[in-house]
Amino acid sequence: SMIHKGEYLHFMEKEIFEQPQAVKDTLLYACNQENNCFSYESFSMRERDFKEISRIRVIACGSAYHAGYVLKSVCERLARVPVQVELASEFRYNHPILETGELVISISQSGETADTLAAVREAKKLGAKTLSIVNVIGSAIAGESDFVFYTQAGPEIAVATTKAYSCQLVAGYIFSLLLAKAKGKINDTEVHSLKDELFLLPGKIQQCLSLDSETLPMAKKLKDDKNIFFLGRGLDWAVSMEGALKLKEISYIHCESYSSGELKHGTISLIEKNSPVIALISQEDLATKSISNIHEVKSRGAKCFAFTMENISVEENDFTQILIVPKTRPLFAGSLLVVPLQFLSYQVSLLKGLDPDKPRNLAKSVTVE
Ligand code: G6P
Repeated sequence: SMIHKGEYLHFMEKEIFEQPQAVKDTLLYACNQENNCFSYESFSMRERDFKEISRIRVIACGSAYHAGYVLKSVCERLARVPVQVELASEFRYNHPILETGELVISISQSGETADTLAAVREAKKLGAKTLSIVNVIGSAIAGESDFVFYTQAGPEIAVATTKAYSCQLVAGYIFSLLLAKAKGKINDTEVHSLKDELFLLPGKIQQCLSLDSETLPMAKKLKDDKNIFFLGRGLDWAVSMEGALKLKEISYIHCESYSSGELKHGTISLIEKNSPVIALISQEDLATKSISNIHEVKSRGAKCFAFTMENISVEENDFTQILIVPKTRPLFAGSLLVVPLQFLSYQVSLLKGLDPDKPRNLAKSVTVE
């Protein structure tokens, strides 16, 4: 390949470190050169196209599917437009019903995933407008969609996505912001304040790049476990799905994400002495609820780790270790939380003597159904 790892041990590590730049490039890509505002045109859409959206269906696979849940959370909160997230491989077999005004958004790093491509084709057949958020220019999914937004992650080599996922989150934020603006759900002051906060993300992601020294002791404590539980509520749940996938795909440890409140409806029966639980707690309004779920697992012997944000109060006694990311708007917390989660996966993989760039049985891009 023309791309080299340079000073890095693996492409995954290199790509984790490229995230501040990739996110910045994606933010700049979305800006109009003249007035420096996010532009509808970066999605190759007009304001009118945004105004016409009454519902959204997101279709994607793997990590891109998880990015869809972040988009749902942010979009529903900012723009008050309902979003349904579906696995691309399921979409066609659910006798899909698409309403007038429903925009189908496909998210894909490669732009070549067979299931996602087939779902886009099905959506078009049903008469829906389609937007794709893809990383590869000229890819099949981009070509078949009415509208395209290109994430600016650059080529991603490691099978486990890092920087492309981060750019997909950002694309989702910008889309939601533009939709909220077009729909008159947020005023200009709020649009600017959210935009300013987004432009602070690359710097804050950069700060998160020094959290590898804090995730290492955690990785050492988790590397011999057989099952790891991830917990979160709302946006934290969305991000925990990606955290669990990342860790399981390159460490071969069974990891599963559960919404904090749902755990007690079944899965808590699996919790025993020393069961590892990784809790994402970045949403202030949900923190108390999430912590009461921590108490439920702790009283059954779980060893708990917290990934939280500055200014959110969590009790040291509840956790084996607490990892704190810098403060941002709660809506954008996932962009920071994901970085230490990536480090954790990478380090567990290395500690187990595995090659994080080449996990068994997995392909970077799956072009068969
Ligand atoms: C493969 C990869 C995953 C990826 C998924 C979707 O299964 O191993 O990491 O998330 O495909 O890929 P896409 O290119 O559509 O984002």
